[in-house]
Amino acid sequence: MSGSIAAYKAAFFVRLLRKEGAELQVVMTPSAAQFVSPLTFSVLSQRKALVEYVSEDGAGWNNHVALGLWAELMIVAPASAHTISGMATGRADNLLLATYLSARCPVMIAPAMDLDMYRHDATQSNLRVLRERGHLLLDAEYGELASGLIGEGRLAEPEKMLEAVLSYFNPEKPLRGKKVIVTAGPTIEAIDPVRYISNFSSGKMGFELARALKEKGAEVVLIKGPTALEAPPGLDRVIEVGSALEMFGAAKEVFSDADIFIAAAAVADFRPEKVEKKKIKKDGSKAVIELEENPDIIASLAKEKRENQWLAGFALESHDAVENAKEKIRKKGLDFIILNSLEDEGAGFQGDSNKITIIDKENNLTKFELKPKREVAADIVQYLIKYIHA
Ligand code: CTP
Repeated sequence: MSGSIAAYKAAFFVRLLRKEGAELQVVMTPSAAQFVSPLTFSVLSQRKALVEYVSEDGAGWNNHVALGLWAELMIVAPASAHTISGMATGRADNLLLATYLSARCPVMIAPAMDLDMYRHDATQSNLRVLRERGHLLLDAEYGELASGLIGEGRLAEPEKMLEAVLSYFNPEKPLRGKKVIVTAGPTIEAIDPVRYISNFSSGKMGFELARALKEKGAEVVLIKGPTALEAPPGLDRVIEVGSALEMFGAAKEVFSDADIFIAAAAVADFRPEKVEKKKIKKDGSKAVIELEENPDIIASLAKEKRENQWLAGFALESHDAVENAKEKIRKKGLDFIILNSLEDEGAGFQGDSNKITIIDKENNLTKFELKPKREVAADIVQYLIKYIHA
């Protein structure tokens, strides 16, 4: 950090970075050290803040070459007009500038100064040089400045600087910090010890969704019914279940601290009322199995939904697809539904491709082309990201 009253804001920034688990080495120019004590930064960063080439006792020196090679990212915040000019022209008359010249890592620069200094041609042309050198500039913000003047020149807020750092390290992880539950596959409903009722769901759509969500940084819990296919690797938790009741139990257990619930499972709507303890023998007469309804998992969870929790379901319809899907959103209390219509060729839950339409609770329709399920999953996740950030 260089000499600016905004150095005090850098203290908050250092705290935020530490909270994220960053390892920090604070390097200050002598003039920054006049604004805020190096001791403050030594304590906050848990590492001695460095100011001079030569250590205070005169016996050692602060190795700018080692510092420059150690860092994965160098952030100059606040960057004063003087330091910006030193960086642009390659001066090395303090530890910060020498470290900059030695650094091989990317550099982020957050300027802070009075408005006339900031908009001066000299400063602007120095900033242009730094931008063209490939450095990331966090533009100064508009507002009241220490001089009492109002204009551009305020150091970017610490939260904004943190966001820039996080997205630098995780450029494609917009679901970072979000916990998502996905149900997938069929459920099986026992008739007797050797037989069950089930359906043809392969689980593929749900697995591809889990994979796509993970790729975007989400914490993914997969609740899966029995399938021949294996769940994708690298998920945070995979819960294997058999029946709809087991799937319901597992979902209830993890729902309260989830942000998003996506029901891709083909849950059996009915289960045999009575599971025979012994194998049913044929005796030449008609066999009758009485069925009772399974609980609707997603509809039950939707009733407990709190603010900032989202639920999405699937609908497989053979006729009046859009109307039936809209009715399902309402009946089940969903945020949006992913519709597969059997009227569309290639849609369905067995093949490798799918053609979907997403309908939200305001009845907006988004149609997609017939695609491989992996791409369909990416479309759904992209839609979800937009939906929850809208
Ligand atoms: N679903 C669920 N629990 C159930 C049944 C379905 O959570 N017991 C979820 C599915 O995972 C899917 C959505 O609800 O996301 C739609 O399921 P679907 O079977 O199409 O709807 P049903 O409620 O069974 O309605 P119907 O059979 O009348 O079409």
